[in-house]
Amino acid sequence: MKITTVGCGYLGAVYAASMASIGHEVLGLDVDQKKVDDLNAGIPPFHEPGFEKVLTEALASGRLRFSTDYSDAEDYRAHVICVGTPQQVDAAGADLTYVHAAVDSLIPHLDDTDVVLGRSTVPVGTAASLRDRLRAAGVNAALAWNPEFLREGFAVKDTLHPDRIVYGLPDDAEEAARARAALDEMYAPMLEVETPVVVGNYATAELVKVSANSFLATKISFINAVAEVCEATGADVSVIAEAIGLDDRIGPKFLRAGIGFGGGCLPKDIRAFMARAGELGVTEALGFLREVDHVNNRRRDHVVNIARRALGGTFTDKRVAVLGATFKPDSDDTRQSPALYIASKISGRGANVVITDPVANERVHAERPNLETAEDAYAAAAGADLVLLLTEWKEFRELDPVRLREVVGTAHLIDGRNALDPETWRAAGWTYESMGRP
Ligand code: UGA
Repeated sequence: MKITTVGCGYLGAVYAASMASIGHEVLGLDVDQKKVDDLNAGIPPFHEPGFEKVLTEALASGRLRFSTDYSDAEDYRAHVICVGTPQQVDAAGADLTYVHAAVDSLIPHLDDTDVVLGRSTVPVGTAASLRDRLRAAGVNAALAWNPEFLREGFAVKDTLHPDRIVYGLPDDAEEAARARAALDEMYAPMLEVETPVVVGNYATAELVKVSANSFLATKISFINAVAEVCEATGADVSVIAEAIGLDDRIGPKFLRAGIGFGGGCLPKDIRAFMARAGELGVTEALGFLREVDHVNNRRRDHVVNIARRALGGTFTDKRVAVLGATFKPDSDDTRQSPALYIASKISGRGANVVITDPVANERVHAERPNLETAEDAYAAAAGADLVLLLTEWKEFRELDPVRLREVVGTAHLIDGRNALDPETWRAAGWTYESMGRP
């Protein structure tokens, strides 16, 4: 099938290469010439395990190319909107500028037999308004909503082996049949292995995505709220998570207490969901998400507070090593990163912060020039009065506490991700503190 993807970020570029890898002919469109040139040269513009392989193989097959010229979309049949929907600069709602621009750029090149598929995370009601936008321009292409659920760090796997596929179809039966036929053809290899397909209308599909992310955010804030109680009582949140996670109605995933969630999705999605509920007159329905957001933000400030206490009440002239800058391991994404928030806050209060990240040092250097970067954990920790582990990269989980102790000024470590074994670190002479564990 001939498919265009509009937007070549973490979602669109991976989707384009993955769709080409299963036999489709794919054109990735983006307004950023450098990104398009890199992708055409097989250079991933971001860190995503497994992506380079699928990208270079798809390019070599001749079924994948990238362009900034939307008129190249002319002969293609399905057009997949993969652009970002960030939080608005001065409000909680989602900024749909890129979605509207994507549709407007496609409009002159669409045939009535084409299908437009939305994969971006959007406020409920967006698909219906985009369909109106197409019709107002005299375009009868079918529109369906097909949300994505990929996780950064597992993007290729999640795209090629999704645990479910959601079809949000239009009310019009003929248009719905056209959209469904295109979706079935695109996802044929996934359907062959009996990936569950869940079908609903536009609003349902849009809400599936924000409900999933809100639920995940709620799970994380739930366990972080329990961690706060643990800190007041001497209980161990990781044992509690293990025990409640063994109940298969609860499940063990997304119950890792720590410094909370970040990234380009969960924080902005819960805020956009609340903002949309407000517009729809059902503010109270999602009032609990405000608390989810508060708990999450509180965890970051909590680490700043215990760091200050560990340093004897002041950051001034103290050297603090920060391990990790990205919002989670195996990604170079620093959007809404709890690690960067904490590092910047501590630096702003007078500490000399040295940060290290296996893939994001350059980005940190460009975006936060006030933070010193170091090659690795041992270099960052040299002479440090305090070490903070804030992103649980494998490199940091496997650190040698004896070797690290030899380079630090004071062997005091705060593990913001509960990623290390307390006994091992204490046995090596460290003062070890973690989140919600005694
Ligand atoms: C999230 C969802 O998990 C995906 O299903 C969804 O498709 C994606 O957003 C999206 O909307 O595009 P992602 O942002 O890649 O994926 O990251 P997650 O793996 O969900 O992690 C989010 C944050 O929660 C990270 O900062 C992570 O460190 C934190 N987290 C996760 C915890 O603090 N505790 C946990 O137990 C799990």
